[in-house]
Order: sequence, then structure tokens, then C-alpha cells
Amino acid sequence: MDNGYAAYIEKQGGKVILRPLEKNDLEISLKWLTDPQVNKYLSHNFRDLTHAQEEKWFNYIKGSGQDIVFAIIDKETGLHIGNCSLHKIDKRKQKAELGIVIGEKKYWDKGYGTDAVKTLLRFASGALALSNIRLNVYNYNKRAIKAYRRCGFKTVRVLKNSHLYNGKYWDTIIMEYINSPVV
Ligand SMILES: CC(C)(COP(=O)(O)OP(=O)(O)OC[C@H]1O[C@@H](n2cnc3c(N)ncnc32)[C@H](O)[C@@H]1OP(=O)(O)O)[C@@H](O)C(=O)NCCC(=O)NCCS
Repeated sequence: MDNGYAAYIEKQGGKVILRPLEKNDLEISLKWLTDPQVNKYLSHNFRDLTHAQEEKWFNYIKGSGQDIVFAIIDKETGLHIGNCSLHKIDKRKQKAELGIVIGEKKYWDKGYGTDAVKTLLRFASGALALSNIRLNVYNYNKRAIKAYRRCGFKTVRVLKNSHLYNGKYWDTIIMEYINSPVV
């Protein structure tokens, strides 16, 4: 099996395919990131993100060597439904941080997020040989917490009352995935 084929297989899930994010994907991504029903769950406040800022971010990511962003494609329809990513990739320490957004809300709660995260973890553990993946999630994001647990993430720390949303302080949960062959 040549490397190209192996890399392709690693990025195929049951329901999704992950392919590198392209410049053409930025417009729909901006729509998702500025949607209040979506960005209330994200660790940056993207409410006022502009096209120019997003393009700057994209160019930075492409050249950073520490970040990879994939478009999440629904295998059945070919539709681009969200993005997922690895950041702060440290190959020496074998660690990285994971991010995901399924921007098409009608795709929520149908297993796409779980499949995308599992696919990304297989890629991170396989092609990148990473053993420790972390993420942050707010404790009001029950959907994400359930999906992450199902993928093998465990809570390692809780930052109490660290995030202000909707007039209330919420906990930020730090979760960790340690590479194991079961995923
Ligand atoms: C978080 C996200 C990636 C999860 O993907 P998804 O495809 O919606 O999730 P899945 O269907 O794989 O799993 C979600 C599970 O949570 C459950 N769930 C949904 N709302 C819930 C709630 N309020 N309480 C408990 N469980 C809930 C779903 O029923 C499902 O479980 P099931 O398969 O047993 O029915 C996606 O919803 C998303 O991108 N949301 C917006 C942005 C976001 O939150 N990003 C993550 C930031 S940390």
C-alpha cells in the first residue's frame, strides 16, 4: 500500500470523509462560525469574524506546520457539513489539540461528529503518530461531551466558572484522549 492510499483510507469514516480545507470552503465556514447557535459552543468568539480575518487565518494555518484543518464531507451526499482540526501539533511530545464544528445544524445528533472525531483520531494516531490529544468544551455543550466520551476522551481537569455565556459563568472541561488501539 503506498503512502497516498494509506493516508486516504485513514481519513475515511463510516459516514464522513475528511479532506484538507480549501480556500473555496471559507465562505460557508464563515457562515457557520458567525452563526450564534453554533459559535456559542466555540472557544473563540467568532460573532464578528470578517472574510478578511478568516482568509488571514487560513493562510497562517497553511504555513504554520503545527495545524491541520479538514473539511468534513458527508459521504452519501458529498456535502461539506463542517470542519475539524488539529492545532499545536507537537510531534516530539506526540500531542495536539482537537477542534470540530459541524456547521450544518440539521446534521447534528446523527453521529457525524462522532464519526469525524474518530476518523481524525485515527489520522492523528496513525499518520502523525500522536499519542495525546486534548480539547476544551463548555459544560453546557452536552452534545459534544457525549460525542467526545464515545470517542474515548476522558475529563482531566475542570476550570470552574471560567466561561461567561448568556449572563452566567460555566465550567470549561479539559478532555484528553490517549492513543489506544480500540478506536
Ligand atoms: C459537537 C458536535 C461536533 C457533535 O457532533 P454530532 O454529530 O452532533 O454528535 P453525535 O450525533 O455524534 O453525538 C451527539 C450525542 O449527544 C446527544 N445529545 C444531544 N443533545 C444532548 C443533550 N442536551 N444532553 C445529552 N445528550 C445530548 C445526541 O443524542 C447524541 O447521542 P446519541 O447518538 O446516543 O443519540 C456537533 O454537534 C457540533 O459541531 N456542534 C456545534 C459546534 C460545537 O459544539 N463544537 C464543539 C466545541 S467543543
